Amino acid sequence: MARVTLITGGTRGIGFALAEALLGNGEQVAVTGTSTDGVMRAEHALATACGDPGRIAGIVCDVRDPASAELAVRTAAARFGGLDALVNNAGVGVGVPISEMPHDEWNRIIGTNLTGVFNCCKAAIPVLRQRGGGWIVNVSSLASKNPFIGGAAYCASKAGLNAFSEALMQELRTDNIRVTYVLPGSVATGFNNRESDAGAEWKLHPEDVAQAIVDVLNHQARSLPSRVEIRPSRPQKN
Ligand SMILES: NC(=O)c1ccc[n+]([C@@H]2O[C@H](COP(=O)([O-])OP(=O)(O)OC[C@H]3O[C@@H](n4cnc5c(N)ncnc54)[C@H](OP(=O)(O)O)[C@@H]3O)[C@@H](O)[C@H]2O)c1
Repeated sequence: MARVTLITGGTRGIGFALAEALLGNGEQVAVTGTSTDGVMRAEHALATACGDPGRIAGIVCDVRDPASAELAVRTAAARFGGLDALVNNAGVGVGVPISEMPHDEWNRIIGTNLTGVFNCCKAAIPVLRQRGGGWIVNVSSLASKNPFIGGAAYCASKAGLNAFSEALMQELRTDNIRVTYVLPGSVATGFNNRESDAGAEWKLHPEDVAQAIVDVLNHQARSLPSRVEIRPSRPQKN
C-alpha cells in the first residue's frame, strides 16, 4: 500500500520539494497552504510532474486554526483511505527586533511554527493510531539553537518546537508513532519573502532537506532518528 503523507506548507519551498520526491516514489501526498491560488498551482504542478493526479491532493488550510487543521487531516485521510505520515513544515519568520515587533506578528510566528504544529498533531494522532502507527516529522531550524538579532520570535518558536518534538517522541513511540524533528540550516527558498537567492549557491536546496526527510521516513520499524541536523557543507564566510 502506497504511503499517505500530509505535508503542511507544501505549496512551495521545502514542502513542495518533499511532495515531489514522495510522489516520484509512487506515494500519495496531500499538501496544504493558506493561499487558494498557491494550493491550486502546487496541486497542478505536482500532478503534472508525477503524471498521476489521483495521488496528489491540495488542501487549503491555516494551521493556526484548530478546525482548519482538523479538516485538513480528515480530508487527506478520507481522500486516500488513511494517513501514515504528517510533516509539519509550514513556517513563517521575520527579522524584526522585539521592540519593533507588533503583537500580531509575534502571534503569527508562534501561532504558525508552534501552535500550528500542536493543532496538526492533535488532529493527526488518532488517525495515525487507527492505522497502527506512523510518523510525525517536524521541520525546525538550526536557528533554534543559534539565536540571532531580530530572530527572537522565530528562534523561540523553533526552540519550543524542538522541546515539543522531544516530549511528543517519548509520548507516542509506544503507539508505534515515530516523531522526528529536522533542523535545516540556510535553504534557498522564498522564505521570509526573500525575492532572490542570487549569490546563494552555497545554500542547501529544498531538495536536500526533502531527501533527508525521505531518508527518515524510510527507516526500518525498529529505528528512530529523532533529531536530524542538515547544513550547507561549505557555508559562506562573513
Ligand atoms: N528556508 C530556510 O532557510 C529554512 C531554514 C531552516 C528551516 N526552515 C523551515 O522550513 C519550513 C519551510 O520553509 P520554506 O523555506 O520552504 O518556506 P516557504 O518557501 O516560505 O514556504 C512556506 C510554506 O508554508 C505555508 N504556510 C505559511 N503559513 C501557513 C499557515 N499558517 N498554514 C498553512 N500553511 C502555511 C506557505 O503557503 P501559504 O503562503 O499559501 O500560506 C508555504 O507553502 C519552515 O518551517 C521554515 O521555518 C527554512
